[in-house]
Amino acid sequence: MAAQTVASTTNTVTSPDSAPSVDLGPAAALSCRECGHRVPLGPVFACEECFGPLEIAYDFSAYDTEELRKRIEAGPANIWRYAPLLPVPADVADKPNINPGWTKLVQADNLARELGVTGGLYVKDDSGNPTHSFKDRVVAQALEAARAFGFTTLSCSSTGNLAGAVGAAAARAGLRSCVFIPHDLEQGKVVMAAVYGGELVGIEGNYDDVNRFCSELIGDPAGEGWGFVNVNLRPYYAEGSKTLAYEICEQLGWRLPDQLVVPIASGSQLTKIDKGLKELIELGLVEDRPYKIFGAQAEGCSPVSVAYKAGHDVVRPQKPDTIAKSLAIGNPADGPYVLDIARRTGGAVEDVNDEQIVDAIKLLARTEGIFAETAGGVTVGVTRKLIENGLLDPSLTTVVLNTGDGLKTLDAVASDTGLTATIRPSLDSFREAGLGS
Ligand SMILES: Cc1ncc(COP(=O)(O)O)c(C=O)c1O
Ligand SMILES: [Zn+2]
Repeated sequence: MAAQTVASTTNTVTSPDSAPSVDLGPAAALSCRECGHRVPLGPVFACEECFGPLEIAYDFSAYDTEELRKRIEAGPANIWRYAPLLPVPADVADKPNINPGWTKLVQADNLARELGVTGGLYVKDDSGNPTHSFKDRVVAQALEAARAFGFTTLSCSSTGNLAGAVGAAAARAGLRSCVFIPHDLEQGKVVMAAVYGGELVGIEGNYDDVNRFCSELIGDPAGEGWGFVNVNLRPYYAEGSKTLAYEICEQLGWRLPDQLVVPIASGSQLTKIDKGLKELIELGLVEDRPYKIFGAQAEGCSPVSVAYKAGHDVVRPQKPDTIAKSLAIGNPADGPYVLDIARRTGGAVEDVNDEQIVDAIKLLARTEGIFAETAGGVTVGVTRKLIENGLLDPSLTTVVLNTGDGLKTLDAVASDTGLTATIRPSLDSFREAGLGS
C-alpha cells in the first residue's frame, strides 16, 4: 500500500549505515513504513526509494522491563517521563519546553450510565495541556528535533490547534515561529495562535491548500532553515502521540484498555497510539492481549470513514464542510494506515453529523464537567453511535479521547446555551423565576 500524500523533499540524505550524528536518545535511524529502507536521522520525511513515510526506528534492546518501569514512574509529571521511549536527548527535561502531558484520565461513570457502558468508561482529557490540545505533545517532540538539526524558525500547516502549540513552544524556546492556517478558522483558535507573538498567516483556502503551500515553501529558499513540525519534522513530531498510549496504560495501572475511540484528521495520532501500545507490549510493560482502536470523524469530513464502510484500502479525498474544523483534513496522509489498524484490531471508523457533535459536547459537559472542543464532540458522539450499532462492546473497558478545549470552539454551542433567567437582585424576583428549592 502506498502512502497517499507524500510530497517530495529537497533535503538530501547521507549514507544509510552511518551512525546518527545527532543525539536524539534511543532514536537510531529513520525507517520507511512501506519498504523498510533506513536512513540516518535528519529532517526528511519521505523515503528516497519509494516515497513512503519515514518513521523513527529505536534501539530499545538495552532496557530491562522493571528498571524501565521504575525509571518512568520516578520521572516528571509530563511526557518526559517517557523520554527513554522518545526521539529526544536524555536531558530533555532540563531544556525550555512547554512540558505537556500527564493529563487526567477521568473515570466517566455518569457518562457510562447514559451510554450503557458497564465495563468502565474513561475520558483521556487532553484539554489540560499548556495550549489546551493534544498538539502540545507532538510539538514538544518536533522542537527537540528542530534544535538537534539547527532550525531557527518553527512552522506548520494547521487546522488551528497546532498553530497555537507551535507559537507557544517557539516562544518558550526563543525561536521564531511563522505558522499557516486556513483564513476562516474559529476566533478562539486564531487568538490562541496569535497571542504568543509569532507570525500567523491565513491562507485563502482549506487545510489541504495550506499543506500544499507549505510543501512548496520547504523546497524554496524562502523556507530555508525552517522546521515544519508536521512536514519535514513529521517523523519526530508524530512520535509525540505515542505518549497518549503510554499515559493511558500507566494511568490504568499498566493495563491496556480493551477499546479506544480516537479522532482522525490526518490520522497520525491514531497510528501512533497503536505504535505506542505495541511498544508497551513488546517491552513487557503491559500484558500482551488484544485491543480495538476505533476512529472518529465528522460526517462533513469523513474520507476515512467512507472508505472503511465501503471496504476500500484507498481513501478518496473530500472537500470538508463541518463545524469540527480541527479535524477538517480532506486528504489525510495516514488514512490508509488508519484503515489497516481499525481492521487489524477489530475496531471500526464511524462519523457523526454536526448536530450529533453539538449534542455530544453538551452530553460530556453535563455528565462529567468536561467542556470539549468539537473534536471531543466527534469522539463522544461516535462512541454513542458505535454502541447503538453494536460495534463497540459496552461490557469492555473503553477510553474516549478528548483532544481539545471547548473554549476554543464556543460558537459550536453558543447558539443554544446561555442564561437560565435574568432577574432583579431580589429574593422575590428569584422566587418568581421558579428557581428556589
Ligand atoms: C483537537 C484535535 N484533535 C485531533 C486531531 C487529529 O490529529 P491527526 O492529524 O493526528 O489525526 C487534531 C488535528 O489537528 C486536533 O486539532
Ligand atoms: Zn520506502
